[in-house]
Amino acid sequence: MHPIFWRLRFAGWRPAREAVRDFILARMPRGGVVAEIGVDLGDFSARIMAINRPRVLHLIDPWTAAGGEYGQYAGAGTESQAAAARALAMTDRYDFVRRRFADQIARGRAIIHRADSQSAAAAFADSSLDWVYIDGNHSYAYVKADLETYLRKVKPGGYLVCDDYHYAGFWKDGVTRAVDEFVAAAPVRPIFKRRSQFVMRKL
Ligand SMILES: C[S@@+](CC[C@H](N)C(=O)[O-])C[C@H]1O[C@@H](n2cnc3c(N)ncnc32)[C@H](O)[C@@H]1O
Repeated sequence: MHPIFWRLRFAGWRPAREAVRDFILARMPRGGVVAEIGVDLGDFSARIMAINRPRVLHLIDPWTAAGGEYGQYAGAGTESQAAAARALAMTDRYDFVRRRFADQIARGRAIIHRADSQSAAAAFADSSLDWVYIDGNHSYAYVKADLETYLRKVKPGGYLVCDDYHYAGFWKDGVTRAVDEFVAAAPVRPIFKRRSQFVMRKL
């Protein structure tokens, strides 16, 4: 699909973020093998299932205190009561997602990887994924590593889609910086950028 079509579709008005995410889902290849990095409660996973209808959706999230709130607790003392409470909450989230997608898991349409994105990558052959949604740890080094690793895992012509591009949360400009540097150097073509979503295609 030509990139100009993507841009024109939302020209001249400010769509809601979820409308943009649904728009992207409708344009990703259907019936493919897809990975979502950073799942949390699986809200966007459910949108992927409903709109994009992948053959298999890999749900990747460590659901640990260290990864909670997109990694802002990374490096924090895990011995503290607060960290223990967060870890429990994350396990509750993991259990919720397992229940939420129980039918799809039973039919082999959803596969949960309770792991960080770099460890989970070992499960995928190179050039085996149709597209990947990157929404895990938003710090610069993690986003950079996710882009590099998962570009190898995506087929030529496949897509990497990043969330929270241009948002400056507690991760500062980590996503923006990592994406901009990557697009300038890697064999990808930027396709679409709107409401914090950045779509690039592997050449
Ligand atoms: C913003 S939430 C994901 C939201 C989800 N994509 C959605 O739109 O509904 C970020 C998630 O990334 C997870 N996470 C943090 N570090 C990660 C890592 N290294 N690899 C994979 N997931 C990670 C966190 O546990 C958290 O659940």
